Amino acid sequence: MRPQHEVFALGYIKETIACYERARQLAKVSPELACETELQWVSDVLTRYFEVAGPHPIIDSLRGRFQALQADVPQRVPTAVPHERGVAGRSPVGYEELLELARCRRSVRWFLQKPVPRELIDRAVAVAALSPSACNLQPFEFRVFDDAELAQEVASIPTGTSGFGRNFPVIVVLVGKLHAWPKEPDRHLIYVDASLAAMAFLLALEAQGLGSCCLNWPDLEPQERRMARLLGLEPDDRVIMLIALGYPDPKGMMTHSQKKPLAELRSFNISG
Ligand SMILES: Cc1cc2nc3c(=O)[nH]c(=O)nc-3n(C[C@H](O)[C@H](O)[C@H](O)COP(=O)(O)O)c2cc1C
Repeated sequence: MRPQHEVFALGYIKETIACYERARQLAKVSPELACETELQWVSDVLTRYFEVAGPHPIIDSLRGRFQALQADVPQRVPTAVPHERGVAGRSPVGYEELLELARCRRSVRWFLQKPVPRELIDRAVAVAALSPSACNLQPFEFRVFDDAELAQEVASIPTGTSGFGRNFPVIVVLVGKLHAWPKEPDRHLIYVDASLAAMAFLLALEAQGLGSCCLNWPDLEPQERRMARLLGLEPDDRVIMLIALGYPDPKGMMTHSQKKPLAELRSFNISG
């Protein structure tokens, strides 16, 4: 915040410290369940918080609790904290290159029957993971199927794959995790966040020579039940969409997808 407030986060700092205590406790008794990078992030942020916040009776009393927790934590300079943007983040990709990549990405429905290295998929997910998401919760999972039999079974469930679903070397089910946003007004966020990540995923596939096609997930009970059974979905998991991917068959037909002209897609300052 500019200017920085002396006292802030009073509404949730107590709960945050309680969560951190539980996480540290859990890490002690079941280290295999602990996520070290996440603990480090929390530790860094709280270290910085207690450096800059206060004085205030609530903050001061929690500072002691935090310091007690930190006694067992190796000292380090906090790096996972807010920092000035500076100029280091400037894009290394020019507009023309980005436009060309977006132009190259067209929905591919016919693929070579050639395995896709998992590393390429992971690299695409790594790009997707950098997408913005509400509160940075990233409430989605890429469930990848590259086993031929399983991929075909998954591809047979949605309605929009008839005639070409059998040739997908890989199919991804993008699953939204509704438990991240249990309140009704926030239910759309899993769709927004997963879709932003999906776009980055598609472009990253394209940049690595892989083609893809999004596949509609219909809001139909029998399909929901079949997919939930096959994937072992939780009751609050929601399928967002499916994505077929693989090496494009150069002889495969592509649709011509006429895009709307700029004037139909954007306006400036129109009100009333
Ligand atoms: C959410 C979503 C669902 C889609 N579902 C299907 C589908 O079920 N079957 C299909 O062949 N294509 C599907 N597509 C691909 C679209 O038809 C395609 O993106 C659109 O025609 C534009 O073509 P382009 O991707 O080549 O630009 C879907 C795309 C999106 C974004």
